[in-house]
Order: sequence, then C-alpha cells, then structure tokens
Amino acid sequence: MRVSAVTMKLLALALVVGLADAFWRMPCRSRSGLARIDPLVSFNAVSDHAHAIHGSDGFSIDAGYDALMAGDCTSCGVSQDKSAYWTPAVYFQGSDGKFTLVEQVGGMLAYYLLYPNADNTSLSGFPKGFQMIAGDTNQRNFSYPVPDLPKSEWSGNMTDQAFLRQAALGFNCLNYATTPEGSLYRHFLPDKAYLDANCVDGVRFELMFPSCWNGVDADSPNHKDHVAYPSEVMTGDCPTGFETRLVSLFYETIWDTYAFKGQAGQFVIANGDLTGYGYHGDFMMGWDDSFLQEAVDQCTNLSGQIQDCPLFTIQDESVYGNCNITLPSALDSEDVVGPMATLPGNPPIESGPAYAGGAGTGGSGNSGSAPPTTSAVAANPVPTLSHSPGVVLASSDTFVPGAVFEAVTDVGAAPSTSSSAIVTAAPPVSSDTQSYFSTSYSTSSQIVNEVLWIEELVTVTASTTATMTLPARKRHLHQHRQRGI
Ligand SMILES: *[C@@H]1O[C@H](CO)[C@@H](O)[C@H](O)[C@H]1NC(C)=O
Ligand SMILES: *[C@@H]1O[C@H](CO)[C@@H](O)[C@H](O)[C@H]1NC(C)=O
Ligand SMILES: *[C@@H]1O[C@H](CO)[C@@H](O)[C@H](O)[C@H]1NC(C)=O
Ligand SMILES: *[C@@H]1O[C@H](CO)[C@@H](O)[C@H](O)[C@H]1NC(C)=O
Ligand SMILES: *[C@@H]1O[C@H](CO)[C@@H](O)[C@H](O)[C@H]1NC(C)=O
Repeated sequence: MRVSAVTMKLLALALVVGLADAFWRMPCRSRSGLARIDPLVSFNAVSDHAHAIHGSDGFSIDAGYDALMAGDCTSCGVSQDKSAYWTPAVYFQGSDGKFTLVEQVGGMLAYYLLYPNADNTSLSGFPKGFQMIAGDTNQRNFSYPVPDLPKSEWSGNMTDQAFLRQAALGFNCLNYATTPEGSLYRHFLPDKAYLDANCVDGVRFELMFPSCWNGVDADSPNHKDHVAYPSEVMTGDCPTGFETRLVSLFYETIWDTYAFKGQAGQFVIANGDLTGYGYHGDFMMGWDDSFLQEAVDQCTNLSGQIQDCPLFTIQDESVYGNCNITLPSALDSEDVVGPMATLPGNPPIESGPAYAGGAGTGGSGNSGSAPPTTSAVAANPVPTLSHSPGVVLASSDTFVPGAVFEAVTDVGAAPSTSSSAIVTAAPPVSSDTQSYFSTSYSTSSQIVNEVLWIEELVTVTASTTATMTLPARKRHLHQHRQRGI
C-alpha cells in the first residue's frame, strides 16, 4: 500500500522561557561620529576607510579602555555603557563615479544576548579592556551552499571558524509590509537591481560576534584569536580552548539604500567592498567589568528593553543625541558625506573573488579612478537569494518576544548528525517536504522577535479511506528545552 506522508505540524511555543533566552537591546540611536578612525586596526593613525561610530565620546585614534571610560557621554541609551561600536559606512557610487554617503536609519542596535553553554548556565561579561573584531575586511567570496543548509546539516568545512565567521554576516532586505526575513539569512549585499525591486525599507546589516572566549586574553594581535564562534554562530557549542561563554554581541545597522532607487550605480561599503563578504565590525568594551557582570546576571527580563533592567541608568535623547567624538586635526575637514570623487581614504575597490589586498598593500586601482566598475561586479556577481519569509508565531497569552523562522528542506536529505540542536528524531519515511525550525532573530522595525523553542508533532496517514495514525513523534525538539531552562 502506498503511504503518503501527510505532515501535520503542531507547534507549541514553550511559554516558560528562562534566563537562557534573555537579552537586552542597547539602542545607539545617535552616531557619535563618522570618520576614518579605528584604534584596533590602525592604532594612533588614520584608518584606511570610514566608519560609523557609536558609543563613548572618549573614542579616538588611540583610544583604549581607560579613554572610553573617561569619556563624558555615550551616544547609546545607557549611561553606564561607554563601549565603542563601529562598522564601515555605506556609500552609493553614481554613474558619474561620485560617492555619496547612504543615510543610516535609527543609529544602530547592539544586542547583548544571554546564551549560555549547554553544560554551564553561567555567562561571563566582557572582562576589563576586552576588544574584538568580527568579520574580515578583505574577504570577497563565499564558497558554501546558498542559502545556508539547516544548522543540523553543518558538517565538513561548515564546522570551521572560517565558515562560521562568514555565516555571522547578514544583509536583511527590509520591507515592513512583508514577513521579515530571518537574521543572518543572506551573507552578501544584494545587487542594486534587487535592492531597488525588493528592499523598500533599506538593508539591515547584521553582524554576530564570537561569544566563546579563551578565558584569558582581553585581546589578541589580530583582535580575533582570543575568541571563537559557537557551532551555530549564535548558539551551539564552544570549541576546545574557548569554553568560557561570553555575553553574545549582535549589531544591527539599517542603511537607506532605497533612497537611491532608480539611480544607476552601485553600493559599496567604505572599505571598498562591493559584495558584502568583507563587512566587519569592531567592539571595545567600556563598562565597569563588575557592573557588566551584574547586568549579565540580572538583566534577564525577556522584553529585551533596557528600561526593564533596574541596574541601568537610561539616558534621554538630549544626552545621547549630543554625544560626539572629537576628530583629530588630520580628519577635521575631511568630507565623508559627498558627493566626492573617491571613498574617504581612497581605498581600492576590490570586487573579488580573490582575497583583497586592502589599502596600502597594492590593491588594484583606486576608488576614484573610474565610474562604477560594472565589469568588476560582473566578474564576481553575488547570488540572487529571494525573500524567504519566516513563519511568525505569536504566543497567545504570555508575553514572549517570539517569532519562528521556518526553513523548508527535503526529507530525503534529512540530516543524520547528532550534534544538531534542531533535529533529534530519525528522518521520516518519504521524500515529502518537511520543516525545520531553528533559533534565530528577526527584527521588524525596532522590535526584536526571538525564536522560541518548538515542538513538532508529526502524524502520518495512509492515502486510502482508512486513516492510519502513527504514534505522534516529537520532532525537532530544541536542545534548549531539553536542558529544561
Ligand atoms: C567547502 O567544502 C565544499 C565541499 O567539499 C567545497 O565545495 C567548498 O569549496 C569548500 N569551501 C571552502 C571555503 O573551502
Ligand atoms: C561556567 O562558566 C563561567 C562563565 O563562563 C565560568 O566562569 C565557570 O568557570 C564555568 N564553570 C565550569 C564548572 O566550567
Ligand atoms: C519585565 O518587564 C515588564 C515591562 O516590560 C514588566 O511588566 C515585568 O514585570 C518584568 N518582569 C520581570 C520578571 O521583572
Ligand atoms: C554631533 O554631530 C552631528 C553630526 O555631525 C551634528 O549634527 C551635531 O550638531 C553634533 N552635536 C554636537 C553637540 O556637536
Ligand atoms: C576566496 O577567499 C579565500 C580567502 O578567504 C581565498 O583564499 C580564495 O582564493 C578565494 N577564492 C577565489 C576563487 O578567489
């Protein structure tokens, strides 16, 4: 008898959500500066590209922890947070070759996500003087499946830090009239035609930082080697040697690319990257370390709102909105807005796929030498990855910041890996289509939706009049739930 599998999904939101999924969202609605400053990469020198900078006004070309802490103010929402958050800015190059700054919408958000390790519910705040970089400014290709395989199928080179680092970048095509895309869905900047056609509210650049730490060093020579990604970028297990789980940092910055709709040209990140693969961000902690540890331990209200953490002193816009860094004289009068003939600092535009040389290392050409390098774009086109709406579930009675993103995959290719946080049951019978759910974040406007734990019950029925109901199987039970958190 032919048995057709009918998959009925019964999705139950776990209403008891504990510490594990708590977070707070640090709004840095005001930019404290936009300048070629990067004390991590170009200490005491001018950086080769321009950054959008948020946080303490103690930030400068030679800032460190003490300078940030000595700042008078922060452009973020909590007065105790004197950290510095910076990412490259985004520009539009028109058909005349000139570059214009793209407007940033709403400043930036820095999420502090409280994900513990599986075997240890304690989380570390950043130690004093901690700093790190996520992403690689010279990366120009992505040699893995597009879109991502379900996390449960990540094996082979998808367990390498090199992959996890690239999977930690997201370019979320915003259209608030549609169901949001999941965070970190697309790891490249869509091309201009796609942005014009689809992303009416701009692009949200997303960046997940490593949250596994070696427990010793506040920094490392390349500002990366002291930390590592857990196996699922945001969640999962920490690699050997990096077992100390830090509070997880996730940046979101919205750029109004749609303002250039219909204009011929291309978007380019301030570091000369047309693809997005070279997007990156920097963080320098500027908290009193024991205060931050208290916040990590106590700011666990699921709303994610800084107002719901009694420890925080919330700042008024008149304070955070007037917190600007002081530019060094070398940059005082530098145009970073345009229209201008070159990107600030004139970094080479390197479209890949080869690893970029970067400014000062003989990279090919410079940003002002020619009109839009359409030939260069054609040499390394980004894939087209169309809108993939998540399934959004709202909880009925208890407030939970919940939303779920569904990735549909073929059962025939169902994963067999056991380390998966997603699939715990054996693959089912047919080549029917089946859904997997994973932990993910999405924001709609400024509201965060956090994926909650999902149970799925599957029944299989016969195709004839008689209905055979197999025992309901619990599938896709999220690992966090198994921990009973
Ligand atoms: C990862 O492995 C796949 C399959 O072996 C291969 O096609 C791909 O090029 C690899 N990617 C990288 C970055 O090594
Ligand atoms: C648990 O994690 C915390 C924070 O990372 C760490 O300080 C502590 O040593 C860990 N405990 C064990 C038993 O590993
Ligand atoms: C969390 O914050 C909300 C307000 O957003 C408040 O009503 C609730 O009591 C808080 N919960 C806890 C456990 O503090
Ligand atoms: C801070 O910088 C912004 C943008 O450059 C400017 O509009 C604002 O007036 C500055 N505020 C102060 C207090 O200098
Ligand atoms: C892709 O980037 C890597 C560096 O991450 C580089 O080694 C590789 O050569 C690049 N691939 C191509 C086709 O250029």
